[in-house]
Amino acid sequence: MGKPDNLIDHVLTFIQNERELYGDFLIDQSLQGQTDETGKAQQVHDLDPPSSNNSSQTVTEPQDTSYNEDEAKGSIKEHSPSSIYDRIDECDTLEALEQLCKEADVLRTDLEGTQLVFGVGNPEADLMLIGKAPGAEEDRQGEPFVGKAGQLLNDILAAINFDREDVYIANILKHRPPNNRNPKPEERKRSLPFLLRQIDLINPKLILSLGKVSAQTLLDKDSSLSSMRGQFHSFRNNYELLATYHPAALLRHAKWKRPTWEDVQLLRKRYDEVKGRP
Ligand code: URA
Repeated sequence: MGKPDNLIDHVLTFIQNERELYGDFLIDQSLQGQTDETGKAQQVHDLDPPSSNNSSQTVTEPQDTSYNEDEAKGSIKEHSPSSIYDRIDECDTLEALEQLCKEADVLRTDLEGTQLVFGVGNPEADLMLIGKAPGAEEDRQGEPFVGKAGQLLNDILAAINFDREDVYIANILKHRPPNNRNPKPEERKRSLPFLLRQIDLINPKLILSLGKVSAQTLLDKDSSLSSMRGQFHSFRNNYELLATYHPAALLRHAKWKRPTWEDVQLLRKRYDEVKGRP
């Protein structure tokens, strides 16, 4: 057994991960016996004040609820004079952006010695997948989704006739957080302008966000995953974004496999439509 400090860190991380999956540990009789992930007891984060968006809704028209990047960059710049953020828009290629990310201490977490996990895949992909943050294996290899969750992700992609090489894969955070804890709101805020530039350089037609942290960050919502999944959202007026469960959640909770399967079938159908395939 490790030192007590480490043990406490592990317990806290475990609780945080459970919260991500289930929401806060409030006892709500109406939820008992329910098998879906619900946001009734949601994790509160400070990216954004909860709003009427929080109610679960049926979206018939895509709604643009995405992150206000000018506001985000503005508020970051206020705190960092001669900001590295000023250089993001000068990056005209993924290589230039990756180089900038290597220099960007603002992308680091409080875990020392991690390497940049920038992103991988087809730079011209019409489908981009966005997870939460690199884990231990991803940090070792410098590539997103190469651990157990990554193997399941490859299987999910194969089930809808995509090779991993067809798509582009990235994360909200580009460095591993300690003990795989959830990214903090300020870490997400600092990383987001880099990710948004990366998205624009790839310019995919569709985005699949994996897990609640990714969906909440990109859609700038505090909602449950169950209320965000299952429908396309207009993202920054330029992309269509579908949210689904994180593969790591599926490894632990088989009950979310079916809704995920429905989501990825919807994704494949929309992909074929936007590519003009019958
Ligand atoms: N989980 C993520 O969200 N991203 C990875 O790269 C690996 C696991």
